[in-house]
Amino acid sequence: MARILIIDDDDSLREVVRFILTEAGHEVTPAAGGEEGLAVLDQGFDLVVTDIRMPGIDGMQVLARVRENPAPDAPPVIVLTAHGTVEQAVEAMRLGAYTYLLKPFQREDLLRTVEQALHTRNLERENLRLRRLLKQSGPVPGLIWRSPVMKQLVEDLQKVAPSDATVLLSGESGTGKELAAHALHDLSPRWNRPFVAVNCGAIPAELMESELFGHAKGAFTGAVAASVGRLRAAAGGTLFLDEIGELPLALQPKLLRVLETRQVDPVGGSGPVETDFRLVCATNRNLEADVASGRFRDDLLYRIRIVEIALPPLRDRTGDIPLLWEHFTQLHDGDELVSEPELLAELERRPWRGNVRELRNLNQRLVLMRSQEALTLADLQRLAPEDGNAQQPTIAADSAGLPLGALPPDGLPLIELEKEVIRRALDLCGGNRTRTAEYLSIPRHVLIYRLSKYELG
Ligand SMILES: Nc1ncnc2c1ncn2[C@@H]1O[C@H](COP(=O)(O)OP(=O)(O)OP(=O)(O)O)[C@@H](O)[C@H]1O
Ligand SMILES: [Mg+2]
Repeated sequence: MARILIIDDDDSLREVVRFILTEAGHEVTPAAGGEEGLAVLDQGFDLVVTDIRMPGIDGMQVLARVRENPAPDAPPVIVLTAHGTVEQAVEAMRLGAYTYLLKPFQREDLLRTVEQALHTRNLERENLRLRRLLKQSGPVPGLIWRSPVMKQLVEDLQKVAPSDATVLLSGESGTGKELAAHALHDLSPRWNRPFVAVNCGAIPAELMESELFGHAKGAFTGAVAASVGRLRAAAGGTLFLDEIGELPLALQPKLLRVLETRQVDPVGGSGPVETDFRLVCATNRNLEADVASGRFRDDLLYRIRIVEIALPPLRDRTGDIPLLWEHFTQLHDGDELVSEPELLAELERRPWRGNVRELRNLNQRLVLMRSQEALTLADLQRLAPEDGNAQQPTIAADSAGLPLGALPPDGLPLIELEKEVIRRALDLCGGNRTRTAEYLSIPRHVLIYRLSKYELG
């Protein structure tokens, strides 16, 4: 049931609409003209249906009054129009009317249009409610912190989020750069437009140009269809170039040109196309050093570093560790599981070369493999001793030197083995992906692909 205001100076039409909508279960208030309608307007209607052409205050003026409140507080407006006033109806939509109905209309048309308008309004309201809820759970959704350095960082994120300034997020692997990039988008006016993430380290160099800038059909062998590319896919929203330090040197001037001209030139295309995105980049490399060694162009660095936000390593904010640990325990287990104080003290003491990601992965391992109802220091030392020689219950070195014992007789899903090997290799390399890829003798982009596929990253 919705509360609907119907404004029309035509008595019989008003009566028909009132009848149909009342029969459909709505509570309908009829008004014989603009004046009468405006007099009751602030009674909290869910929908206004109004004729356009009326003596005195007409439908356009009613619309203007309704729209003085921002949606979704303002109810949607459906305007009723005859053939002669269709142009006005189109103008009404430009001014914010939900839609128009051409007279004479069928009962079904009226009901369908009304239900659609009410549905849209419900979605808008729900959206607003969720956004308010999210805001309550902390100023930056998803980011857990307590330390003063993180407080400062959250304030910086809130300050730059509403602008279109290019932000470079720097910091060691696993410090939360991707999370911060999402936060910048969610807190910006672009929040309901696309967030397009591209990991420059995960795309093979030869595919990167068409992936980013798009290509025309037939631009190269294999280009069977045209592609708009990630830069244009982010139009209206945020483009997140992760691991920007891995962007091939040859493409750096092309990206710079896009940023300067706000136009993208697709591979094999017929010329540049306008685009509009907000750029956020992330890196765990020292880009200054890369500039010095000729790996990264200085002009591009200056362009992407309008604002730099540095994510501090976890060892510099050990005060966050207990809170993060609780958060991950809840995530991995529900909220019953407690952690010994001795365990928390030890966690605060460790170096966390893989930062928050390492903490999260370790939490998951402890929750899964614990020997008691609580999380204990003893289990930590058994499953993740500091020297890295964790007891490895399923994979033990065999005589041939390969780290594989007898295979379990009942079968072993290869995929689980691969996940476990990747997880351990990542731990061993302190979360550093380049070193992990070298350790596993696979290309870095292959590792990154698997990390995201197995949700390890
Ligand atoms: N402050 C935080 N609160 C809650 N979770 C966090 C926080 N920081 C990081 N995480 C979690 O830690 C993991 C790693 O974070 P993220 O992917 O953002 O790191 P990153 O800096 O992008 O790392 P990399 O350089 O390796 O890509 C993610 O699962 C993320 O959700
Ligand atoms: Mg990342």
